[in-house]
Amino acid sequence: MKRREFSNLLGLGLLATSLPVAIAACQSDSAPTADSGGADDGFVALGTVAELDAQGALANSNVQGKNLAVIRDPGAPESVIAVSALCTHAGCTVVWNGEQSLFACPCHGSNFNPDGSVNSGPTREPLATFEAKVEGDQVLVKV
Ligand code: FES
Repeated sequence: MKRREFSNLLGLGLLATSLPVAIAACQSDSAPTADSGGADDGFVALGTVAELDAQGALANSNVQGKNLAVIRDPGAPESVIAVSALCTHAGCTVVWNGEQSLFACPCHGSNFNPDGSVNSGPTREPLATFEAKVEGDQVLVKV
């Protein structure tokens, strides 16, 4: 074997042995984990219980592509309710009004009850709901 052939084989061997390491290094660190708020059960963290209590609602317009809001269930405050924050009339973002216990749409005045059902129109369709829970100090929602 000539020196050049040996050198080429050696280089190919090094490339082949280092490729798995390079691929592993390129894999995303943003995969959901329990520590980062996502878990194998599909729940992701929207915020902390302290934030929920301070703000009255947790809202995030991009939870895996969904615009969501989470509130404490007024009828069972130890529980939380998650709804789509997109108004079913024309897609504006609803805002939680804790004093009236309603999700209010600023565009045309539709109001939704805490469970997402319609309180007043013009919309006729309820807000979509999502599974939500409190775990430790985290408020989790399943998208
Ligand atoms: S978009 Fe909400 S009432 Fe029209």
